[in-house]
Amino acid sequence: MAFPEYNMDPVTLARFIMEDDRERREKYGTTRTSLAFILQAIGVASKVIANAVQNAGMQGLYGLGGQANQSGEDQKKLDVLANDVFKNVLRNTKKVRVMVSEEQDDAIVIEGLDHARYCVVFDPLDGSSNIECNVSVGTIFGIYHTDNKSLAELGDCLRPGREMVAAGYVLYSSAVVMVLSTGTGVHMFNLDPTFGEFIETKRNFHMPAVPKLIYSCNTGNAEKWDDATKAYMRWIKAQPKTYSARYVGSMVSDVHRTILYGGIFFYPADKKNAKGKLRLLYECFPMAFLVEAAGGKAIDGRQRILDLTPTELHERSPIYLGTADEVDRVQEFYKQLD
Ligand code: AHG
Ligand code: MN
Ligand code: MN
Ligand code: MN
Repeated sequence: MAFPEYNMDPVTLARFIMEDDRERREKYGTTRTSLAFILQAIGVASKVIANAVQNAGMQGLYGLGGQANQSGEDQKKLDVLANDVFKNVLRNTKKVRVMVSEEQDDAIVIEGLDHARYCVVFDPLDGSSNIECNVSVGTIFGIYHTDNKSLAELGDCLRPGREMVAAGYVLYSSAVVMVLSTGTGVHMFNLDPTFGEFIETKRNFHMPAVPKLIYSCNTGNAEKWDDATKAYMRWIKAQPKTYSARYVGSMVSDVHRTILYGGIFFYPADKKNAKGKLRLLYECFPMAFLVEAAGGKAIDGRQRILDLTPTELHERSPIYLGTADEVDRVQEFYKQLD
């Protein structure tokens, strides 16, 4: 008997990870079982954080944690909680040799795990200034694979974003959605709260061929932008087909909308912040990895974000990401004005 409305064969995150690893084994003859462990652990951390975010108001989790992070931001209680949860689940996999977090000044090199082959960089809670007003927040992560011939060290993570083997984000909003890529295609999973599983909702998602005309940036900084970005904004405003402005102020939300609807999200450098605000390693790289895996593009104005090599953990970078044509237009203005 068929029950068309009832999902009797759900693709859970665990099943996707196993299928993805089986496909890799069939295609390339290699498996990444440890990566599967790590992605599973990230799924668990995301459920714990989703629960904390949902209940923050009743469990005294609003407000400041009392410390500042390396980016000079006052840590929220939920920044600290999300960071601790991520460190716990990743450490317990025994598959991660180095971790880098927005909320940790230094890289965490895990004792006795030089034989492990993975490094995970993460922003445990993105958009945390939006917590108290219940605007959506997220988690962002990127994963590097290393050989295990060398001792684990910070350098394992200071590599171009293109060398990541997986990246993703989790959006804690009206639905909790994980968006993930292990290099080819972008896949989306909604958390079913009734039985606490991430269930696949989109596989091999591609950004729309006909994008919505949306631009997403903090125009409050516009007077401080460089000439190329100002020229691009003038171009947008002059278009006969009106663009819509959409800006949540949580990178995960703004990028998720951009991947689904098309358009462009950008956080440029400005006179006050010579390299912009967003951190290269655990915000720009994972988002660029995902947008490009979905058929879009991400640049720092002049070059692909994924080709950049960080020199320090919390380094920032300007970023323009989204529909390739829009991003190319920005690059054109830089070429004209450089
Ligand atoms: P985080 O909360 O992890 O520190 O990140 C905040 C970032 C990002 O989420 C968002 O795109 C950006 O800050 C918004 O900055 P403005 O408030 O300056 O627009
Ligand atoms: Mn922060
Ligand atoms: Mn962030
Ligand atoms: Mn953060």
